[in-house]
Amino acid sequence: MSPSGDGIDRVKSAADLVQIVGEHVKLRKSGSSFIGLCPFHSEKTPSFHVHAERQFFYCFGCHAKGDVIHFVERMEGLSFADALRWLGERYGIPVDNRSRSTDRKAGERRILLEIQAKAGGYFRRELAAGTARQAQRYLEARGLTPESRERFGIGFAPRRSDGLLQELRAAYSLDQLRLSGVIQRNERDSSHFDRFRGRVMFPIWNEAGKIVGFGGRALGEEQPKYLNSPETPLYNKSGTLYALNLARESVRKQGRAVLVEGYMDCIALHQAGIGNAVAVCGTSLTEAQVRLLGRFTKKVVVNFDPDEAGDSATLRSLGLLLEGGFGVRVLALPDRLDPDAYIRKHGVAAYRELLERAPTDFEYLLARAQEKHAVETIEGKVGAIEELLPHLARVSNRIEREEKTRRVAEFFQVEEADVRVELHKAAGGDRRKPELVRSRHKPSLSPAERQLIKVILDLDREAGDIVDQLDRTQVHVGMDSEVVFGAIVALYRKDGRVEAERLRESLPGDREQNWISEAVFEEGDQQQVAGCLEWLGRKRVEREVARLQRQIEQAERSRDFQLVASLHSKKARLTLSVAG
Ligand code: UTP
Ligand code: MN
Repeated sequence: MSPSGDGIDRVKSAADLVQIVGEHVKLRKSGSSFIGLCPFHSEKTPSFHVHAERQFFYCFGCHAKGDVIHFVERMEGLSFADALRWLGERYGIPVDNRSRSTDRKAGERRILLEIQAKAGGYFRRELAAGTARQAQRYLEARGLTPESRERFGIGFAPRRSDGLLQELRAAYSLDQLRLSGVIQRNERDSSHFDRFRGRVMFPIWNEAGKIVGFGGRALGEEQPKYLNSPETPLYNKSGTLYALNLARESVRKQGRAVLVEGYMDCIALHQAGIGNAVAVCGTSLTEAQVRLLGRFTKKVVVNFDPDEAGDSATLRSLGLLLEGGFGVRVLALPDRLDPDAYIRKHGVAAYRELLERAPTDFEYLLARAQEKHAVETIEGKVGAIEELLPHLARVSNRIEREEKTRRVAEFFQVEEADVRVELHKAAGGDRRKPELVRSRHKPSLSPAERQLIKVILDLDREAGDIVDQLDRTQVHVGMDSEVVFGAIVALYRKDGRVEAERLRESLPGDREQNWISEAVFEEGDQQQVAGCLEWLGRKRVEREVARLQRQIEQAERSRDFQLVASLHSKKARLTLSVAG
């Protein structure tokens, strides 16, 4: 067993699935297992079972299943390797043989996390102190209840320039404090001082709920309105979604998220009971944020500020979200109100109603194009349609794209064929990523593929025969699983074995990595190998046949009957070979 394989076993025997599940699900004992409401889908009667002895969970509703690592993977939205590490840290078990430099990095991270946590505590204490009257009044005026102050860990950085510095300097070096971003150096006299002064402090957490940075709001008109932590080894602004740690359960339960721009918007929504809100915090949405959110849901309502900046931010985000395979709705609030202001003015019931009625991305874009252009004129119509084309081109599902193209033609009363021609032109440079297109339609592997992967993993060092066969026949080429089998062959050639963790780590995306953890739960049956390989071979022939068929149709159209005949006989031979 490799160290990491060992790590898996050690973590599994140390971790208690019932305890870990129990932190998220109210469990009750029933026979030899525990049951509760499934955290992975919405249900009213419990169908989520945890078997204490076998340390295995299964949901009869949504068929989620697995061991403790699997549970953490799904619950925390982590990769297998990270879930293992998460558990390892929690139970104090080393899970992989780290190099010295990763050890050092981990140590550095730990210290930075500690500093952030301590700073958070300091700011909270300062807010509670008698000297923070102005900040308290400010929060009151903005309608923040004590509960949400508590929940969002809101604090206050007093005006003096070294309060936090004094608090921390005994325990940490100035280098560490500077690196954490809460302390700054004056370059002229090399003195150090607190970055945040005279501001209401909003901690920013990572999705696991650890403070990684702060946003500090001015109490009055001072600039900047919000001062934020700089990028640090902990805090990467464009890869963070504010309040995701607080929203994730609700996001998962409701199957969607509400995406807003600002700290205050997000807090106001949570306070009003809309717990699935997260904020981008001033940056325009990034691909990293889309991926992060995608670990918890594939549906989102975008509710940015109804100003110029918000409008263009909305458009940009729509593109990214669609490419990320999200179902998107857009909520544009009336009277230039942001979510915080809207709720304060009209109440949450009115907000909820708009939320429920929020148009899909496409309806929104149609209406917007119509509003912006004088569509009763030819120029206006052309302008409006041109604006829609890039969005149409981004729709990864072909049927959906066709349908939307038809809608556009209908909406503006022009020929569908003409829209199609323009769409083609517009799509020219900007091809959609084929990987994303596929991932929306084929979330999972076939049983044969999973089975084959599992047997190979079971065989590990003894998998050479199968690896040779794959390598020789190349039956996997052209399948979704091609990258997995390709990686298996490469790994075996390099290490002389195929080990699950290493395989997972060598795969490019979450989707592929998940296939491995899926496969791990298969019953591996070596008797099935031949059948699996045969199945793959058959799929390959089917693809080849379909390709020939397309060539035949093409040749028929160009009336090249000699070619048609030869293609037909090729196809017949192939078809026979499958039947046989
Ligand atoms: P807004 O200006 O819309 O602020 O910026 P807001 O959230 O509505 O704040 P209030 O209600 O006026 O207090 C939206 C977000 O952009 C980021 C912050 O994350 C803010 O919440 N921002 C804004 C900054 O980082 N710096 C700034 O100077 C302004
Ligand atoms: Mn605001």
